[in-house]
Formats: sequence, structure tokens, C-alpha cells
Amino acid sequence: MNWETRVTKMLNIQYPIIQGGLAYLAYSDLAAAVSNAGGLGQITAMSLGSPEELRKEIQAVKLKTDRPFGVNYAIGQHGRPFEHMLEVAIEEEVPVITMTGGNPAPIFDMLSGVDTKKLVLVAARRQAEKAEELGADAVMVVGQEGGGHLGRADTGTMVLIPQVVEAVSIPVIASGGIGDGKGLMAALALGAEGIEMGTRFIATKECIHAHEAYKQKLVEASEDDTVVIKRSIGAPARAIKNEWTQKILQVEEKNPTYDALKDLISGEANMKYIYDGNESQGFGWAGQVMGRIKDVPSVQELFNRMIKEGEDIRTIWSK
Ligand SMILES: Cc1cc2nc3c(=O)[nH]c(=O)nc-3n(C[C@H](O)[C@H](O)[C@H](O)COP(=O)(O)O)c2cc1C
Repeated sequence: MNWETRVTKMLNIQYPIIQGGLAYLAYSDLAAAVSNAGGLGQITAMSLGSPEELRKEIQAVKLKTDRPFGVNYAIGQHGRPFEHMLEVAIEEEVPVITMTGGNPAPIFDMLSGVDTKKLVLVAARRQAEKAEELGADAVMVVGQEGGGHLGRADTGTMVLIPQVVEAVSIPVIASGGIGDGKGLMAALALGAEGIEMGTRFIATKECIHAHEAYKQKLVEASEDDTVVIKRSIGAPARAIKNEWTQKILQVEEKNPTYDALKDLISGEANMKYIYDGNESQGFGWAGQVMGRIKDVPSVQELFNRMIKEGEDIRTIWSK
């Protein structure tokens, strides 16, 4: 079956499936496995310690695959400077740069004249229009179901995707709540030309940095086991419900300031759970789609299954 869309052509990939940036989790093993399976894998730059660490990861991906891959830049209000990290990707001639989290204009300035595809992850129609104006090659659009940081307006994927498809002329990649062939086909039916998945890729064999307890939680928990934190400071983000996120919500109710929250929502607290499996001292991001995750396959197995499911759906539709 032909899976070609403007996204597969632009990114030079076989299937329109992109692995989203995954803070502290998306290293060369996962990125290369996704690219080798025919999608676009990515390294997450801003949770790496230094430009040299990023260079090492990029070079490791190049050893593990000769297919295109991306580097993701989440830049935010409280994030650290990204310029030196971006310089590395430019020097290493990374084929795809994705960005999210803040005003992407400074990234576009640095990438002016650089031969790379520029994709922006947005969570609202206006942000997608802005990304198109800045020169994005495509937008990834995340709905409220998604794991990690979300839009402030709570719009779900089902409504947001066709709204953005009708508002911009660049290709749209649907994100948030997708984890199988049904989600893939639904996204294409909404007018998207590709999908991005975050949570589903954490529960794969090649996401080697995620603790077994985190992966098991994704397998066992239901769609009701996530919670949105950080809404009170204007940065809503979806995580797995646990003691730690309860603490965060209590502080948000009493004293909704960044200073009061910063230790609870820090990268250290995130790593305590996702690397050490320590539920009482940290938290992990995940989307509602975890309710539909039932196993921890290899990335290749996941792709085989999704593509088969997608092809079966197309066969039914064509009858
Ligand atoms: C653990 C985790 C970490 C994430 N970190 C990033 C990040 O660093 N950069 C980014 O652009 N998106 C990040 N995201 C968002 C994902 O790339 C993706 O947009 C989102 O997970 C899509 O929703 P889904 O989880 O339902 O697939 C993260 C998501 C999760 C679950």
C-alpha cells in the first residue's frame, strides 16, 4: 500500500510516522530504531547535558542508521539557552530540526540558509499560522490528549487537526492520543499527512533509558490515570497521576507560582521516576493513549502492527 504524503516526500521517509521529542528519553537507540523502521526518529537536544553530548548522540545515530532523523529543541521560558546546542545540529548537517515551547523565531533566524527541514510543534491554530509565516516546512499539532506540554485551550486532537489543516497550506502532522493503526488512519482522515507519537514510543524496547516501572505503568494504567499539572503557571502538561503529582496540584491550589513549584516540577524530579522508577519522589509525562498500550514491543514490531492495521482499515473502507 502506498503511504506517500507530502510529509513522507519532504522528510524522505517510508511511513508518515514521527517520534516526538521526549525529554530525557530520546537518545540514539530510539531515534535510529524509528528511522530504521521507516519513520522519523529524533534525539531530544535540550535534556542533554552539553553540546558535546549532543554531538555524540547525533554521531551515534549516524552509525546506527543511514536514514533521515531529527533533533528536537524544546525552548521555554525557564529553559536554558539553546544556541550552542543548535550550532551542533547545523554543523552535523542534521536533516530535520523540530522545535517547540516558546517563540520559534530565534531558531528560524539561526537556521536561515541552512539546508534542513524545519518542523514546529504547536497546540493551537494561531500558533500554526505563525509557524507557517516564519517559514516552517510543516507543523505538528498536539491535542489535549497528549503527553507532556499542551495548549492552554484544552482543544482535543479531533477538533484541532482539521481546524489547522484548513488554516494553513503547509502539511500538518497530528499528535496527541495516537498509538496504533486506528489512530494513524483517523489522523489521515482528518486531513493530517503524518502522525507524531510520544507516549507509545516510551513503551518500546529501544527506549532504553525509561525504567521498567515506567513502562509497566504505561501498560497497566488506564486512560483515566493521567493528570494535567502546571496549569496554574500557564504551562499545562499531562503526566501520570501519582503521589507526586497530587503534591504538585496541592501547591498549585495554595501558591500557584513558579518559585513554589520549581523543585516539584524539575528535571531532577522527572528523572527520579523515569530513570529510577521512584514514584514517591518524582513524576513522568504520559498521554491518555497509555490506556490503549498493552505491551512493550520493539519499534519494528510496533511499526509492522500499525501498518498492517492501517492497511486492513483501508481494505474495509474500499469495499
Ligand atoms: C515523556 C515525554 C516527554 C516529552 N518531551 C518533549 C520534548 O522534549 N520536546 C517536544 O517537542 N515534545 C515533547 N513531548 C511531547 C511529544 O513529543 C508529543 O508531542 C506528545 O507525546 C504527543 O502525545 P502522545 O503522548 O499522546 O503521543 C514529550 C512527551 C512525553 C510523553
